[in-house]
Amino acid sequence: MKIIESCQEMRNLSLTAQKSGRRVALVPTMGALHDGHLSLLKIASQHCDFTVMSLFVNPTQFGPKEDFSKYPRPFERDCELAKAAGCDCIFAPKPSDMYPENYSTYVTVENITDTLCGASRPSHFKGVTTVVLKLFNIVLPQIAVFGQKDAQQVIVIKRMVQDLNMPLQLITAPIIRENDGLAMSSRNVYLSENERAEAPLIYKSLTEAKALYDSGERGGQAIKNCIQSILDTGRMIKAEYIEVVDTVRISPLEKIDKPVLIAIACRTNESGTRLIDNIILGGDL
Ligand code: PAJ
Repeated sequence: MKIIESCQEMRNLSLTAQKSGRRVALVPTMGALHDGHLSLLKIASQHCDFTVMSLFVNPTQFGPKEDFSKYPRPFERDCELAKAAGCDCIFAPKPSDMYPENYSTYVTVENITDTLCGASRPSHFKGVTTVVLKLFNIVLPQIAVFGQKDAQQVIVIKRMVQDLNMPLQLITAPIIRENDGLAMSSRNVYLSENERAEAPLIYKSLTEAKALYDSGERGGQAIKNCIQSILDTGRMIKAEYIEVVDTVRISPLEKIDKPVLIAIACRTNESGTRLIDNIILGGDL
């Protein structure tokens, strides 16, 4: 497995792979890899012959009071895990190469970035779309794989790719969970013991919401109430939002009559960790 830091070298390697008839896949990550990330690598290698994983903790998607500096960066371990999962190349650029002095260009996807996570993280998606577009331009993949775990991110990147006529295919990968249902996340390491014990309530509330939907309920508010009542049984976790929205425009659905994204963000009260999770019913992303 190659480890590349230089943008130019990365592009050359990708072009060489493509000239020899190989299809290139990109799996963008910020590292601190877990089985969720590794599942994306597996999916990528099922569709392509050359799989690149980017490892870059992207400063522009973190707010001023967020965890950019304390975000875990176990680089050696990440390289070993990626290699064992069949990754062909790690692209780990330096922040100063991605955002040199006088850097001034950003990509903004409008409307759908103001809701859900965008409401409390105002410039987050601008940072995400900008770095993802840069990664696409450097790695030149035919395919890119993203996790449903960050459902709004998938919807926003899909919009960008479509709106800007970008020549690549996006694949959405299912959410990988711990045995007790907690969605895997690089941020789970921040959780205190008590918080970790209570965190599975989030997925439990989503499965109850699904059961309600499966029994015929189509009211958005009824689904939200069901989720809230389950989260209320815990003491360490508070909902930041519970939303029932359509999967394209991210607009609230009072009556669920199309594929629906049920999305939750919570904040824990000891470590202040932000956890997100979601479920999609009646369709896919
Ligand atoms: P990061 O949080 O490292 O996630 C990288 C990819 O792994 C994303 O597509 C995310 O949805 C996926 N992922 C995370 N947890 C997962 C889980 N439990 N199951 C399946 N997939 C999971 O998302 C980012 O980084 C950044 O915003 C990035 C796109 C790299 C841009 O900086």
